[in-house]
Amino acid sequence: MMDGLGADHFFNPRNVGDADEPRFTGRAASLSCGAHVRFSIQVDEAQRVSQARFRAAGCNVLIATASMLTEQVAGLTTAEAATIATEATTCAALARDALLDAIREYSNAARDDWAGDEALICTCFFVSERTIEHEINSRGLTTVAEVTRACNAGGGCGSCHQLIQEILATNDLPR
Ligand code: FES
Repeated sequence: MMDGLGADHFFNPRNVGDADEPRFTGRAASLSCGAHVRFSIQVDEAQRVSQARFRAAGCNVLIATASMLTEQVAGLTTAEAATIATEATTCAALARDALLDAIREYSNAARDDWAGDEALICTCFFVSERTIEHEINSRGLTTVAEVTRACNAGGGCGSCHQLIQEILATNDLPR
């Protein structure tokens, strides 16, 4: 997913560490993947970022993005740096949403084209309706999240969530 520049920032991250004192630090963490990142910046009298450093534990996208951000914001005013930070999140989210949308379109098409004996529900993880029904009935599952935990169905692009929901509804028999 990363371009050459991004990969370079991953293999050779810039500005790892802590900005010199006096510094201002910020942290962010993702509960879902356990990644965390800490930024520290030093700001001069003109309100410009004179130093930006980061420490991160997480995936290559996080590390490369943090590294690129430290270079991008150096010398900018805090207002300019904040604008870049906001745009970075928005653009990353936008790109992610577009990619997920494309994967969903693929999944829908692959599901429609599927010619196997059993109806294919989750194209991402190749899970059939029969498998999902079996998991629901043998384990007494009631939510899509539980189905995902049991057999991975629904754990990718999410285009099958509605179908899983319908299977749950039709299998919601008194136990
Ligand atoms: S089809 Fe993508 S998560 Fe099920």
